[in-house]
Amino acid sequence: MPNQDYSKISPTAKLVAYFRQFSDIPFAADVAALMHAEDVFNELLQGTDLTPEFLKWAAPLAEARYKSIVSAIKREGITQVLELASGLSLRGLAMTEDPEYTYVETDLPGITEEKQQILSIIKSNQALRERQNLFFHAVNILEFPQISSAIRHFEPSHPVAVIHEGLFQYLSMSEKETAARNIHSVLSRFGGVWLTPDFETKAELERRSHTHSQLQKLAQAVTGATQRDIYNAAFDNQEQIADFFSRLGFKLRISPQIDGSYQLTAMQKLGIPEANIKNYKFNGNIWTLRVE
Ligand SMILES: C[S@@+](CC[C@H](N)C(=O)[O-])C[C@H]1O[C@@H](n2cnc3c(N)ncnc32)[C@H](O)[C@@H]1O
Repeated sequence: MPNQDYSKISPTAKLVAYFRQFSDIPFAADVAALMHAEDVFNELLQGTDLTPEFLKWAAPLAEARYKSIVSAIKREGITQVLELASGLSLRGLAMTEDPEYTYVETDLPGITEEKQQILSIIKSNQALRERQNLFFHAVNILEFPQISSAIRHFEPSHPVAVIHEGLFQYLSMSEKETAARNIHSVLSRFGGVWLTPDFETKAELERRSHTHSQLQKLAQAVTGATQRDIYNAAFDNQEQIADFFSRLGFKLRISPQIDGSYQLTAMQKLGIPEANIKNYKFNGNIWTLRVE
């Protein structure tokens, strides 16, 4: 039984926010500066023999993951978005510049509060207008009443895109099942789609660790900090992913995260040769799930 204190997972949001600052993702540099990302990063590295070299891997992967979701939402043409475990990504602030979108960002209470403080500083520094189409709610994905309260902003007659990145990896199989059932309930009510890069297999994790040993050390540091065993919580193989979600009433489609629909900019900032892009391609898939 994994540790039930989910707030132990929240600092990982700061780690991802640290990686995103090396990209051109909107507000990523502001967030990293305001939350003192460097300190969080150094604290995590303490006592490990990780070197900043691993940034060259982690930053482009974080950028691809973020941008592949934005591309997928746009491809689906859905303008109501429920983001679960949104951390400090501020994708809602970026997307709601377009008034067509209604965006509900959710995460656990502590990180949601921190995000709102950061957001109000960014809004005032950049004189951003108030967004009538952006909402924040404290939501534990395992608690349907909390989700239910967050989705009250959506038009019932319009489909919803439910998204998350970097959440399912931390959940046990039974927690994944509860979360999937909750998302099924949302999609059954509104229609729409579930988009996520989060379903990873043990083989993928092994391959990634093998390709760069620094990433394996990072995974160990994260496991220690969150008390969540990411390797054992991963799916055994692709067949298990397909069986798991079809048993819960979903149709699934898998596509690569890096599909040419956006530019990866962190590589240039970190001085990684463009030719190395092939090394990143193994990483990521994005899953599209619909209620059957
Ligand atoms: C690796 S971070 C990813 C954050 C964000 N999606 C990003 O990419 O920056 C994992 C996030 O999962 C959130 N989380 C952990 N357990 C959760 C739960 N039971 N319900 C909702 N969010 C949860 C944490 O608070 C944290 O923000």
